[in-house]
Amino acid sequence: MRKGILSLTAAAAVLALGLTACGGNSGPTSSTSSASSSQKAGKIGVILPDSKSSARWETADRKYLEEAFKAAGVAYDIQNAQNDKTAFQTIADQMITNGATVLMIVNLDSGTGKTVIDKAKSQGVATIDYDRLTLGGGAAYYVSFDNTKVGTLQGEGLVKCLTDKKASKPIIAELNGSPTDNNATLFKAGYDGVLKPKYDSGDFVKGPDQSVPDWDNTQAGTIFEQMLTSAPKIAGVLAANDGLGNAAITVLKKNNLNGKVPVTGQDATVQGLQNILVGDQCMTVYKAVKKEADAASKLAVALAKGEKPTASGSVKDPQSGQDVPSELMEPQAIYLDNVKDVVADGYVTKAELCTGDFAAKCTEAGIQ
Ligand code: BGC
Repeated sequence: MRKGILSLTAAAAVLALGLTACGGNSGPTSSTSSASSSQKAGKIGVILPDSKSSARWETADRKYLEEAFKAAGVAYDIQNAQNDKTAFQTIADQMITNGATVLMIVNLDSGTGKTVIDKAKSQGVATIDYDRLTLGGGAAYYVSFDNTKVGTLQGEGLVKCLTDKKASKPIIAELNGSPTDNNATLFKAGYDGVLKPKYDSGDFVKGPDQSVPDWDNTQAGTIFEQMLTSAPKIAGVLAANDGLGNAAITVLKKNNLNGKVPVTGQDATVQGLQNILVGDQCMTVYKAVKKEADAASKLAVALAKGEKPTASGSVKDPQSGQDVPSELMEPQAIYLDNVKDVVADGYVTKAELCTGDFAAKCTEAGIQ
């Protein structure tokens, strides 16, 4: 594991240098390849979902996909639908009109995702579900993480954090991801698989359990405020990602409960890691997005060249019953003692993490 992380760090450093040397061309919501003059523009189209439900889409996915497409010398167009389903479809139409032969999407829900995939297929455009499986969508490939495992790590994380605190019969609140995101369903299956036996045995007490539409962090705050009003003795929060976790932490702070009530997360965002450094968040799940982006772009580049790449595995679409050729990456649990692994892997930099008051905490956590 450690060895893997070290070699990955070296690879990331080399790539980062390469990127700096090339210079960037990315805008906040759209970026196209500058090398497109000699090539057919927008050969690979990527649609990201939004920039608010998680920092990852703009800070990690866009960056790593861009790096990979540039390295392959292929024309690309990466856009962000900013949580607008109509815009999502318009962007897809424009990409196809502009000559995209491969479309990679992070759907906003399976229904609108399927519409986009159907249209792409009818025009002979190859399709990849990136990170989120479009249920019943029939994309040619699916690249993601083992999302049930992500949830298992979160459930196990909460158990560990509560055990460390010697909590007795803690009331657990579950703040789930968007009901229209298949990943949120998988995360919940993972953590409920860990928590349900604890509820059944009476070790833990099941408290409020609610989904957050569109992973909206503001709504998450309102929902958690209501949860805490209805169950003031909440002693542990299973939050499905760092954004939802931070929303809960903000409410806990107002009630002087931060640090006392363990909160989980996901994505190893700068904010989530800082919350861990100061003890307000107990754990997060690090998903090495670089690996996901690399696997997806490898498929996309091959498809753009007219090849028919094979994936290493497959996932059954529960709606259509079809096996979708897939690449799934492994997630990693992050606690205070291994926050440094995320920095060593190049996912966040010490400069962005260890600002102001966090600097001393970084030193304590052994972050170099
Ligand atoms: C992704 C998570 C992300 C969430 C909100 C999920 O589909 O897998 O990494 O935090 O969406 O954007």
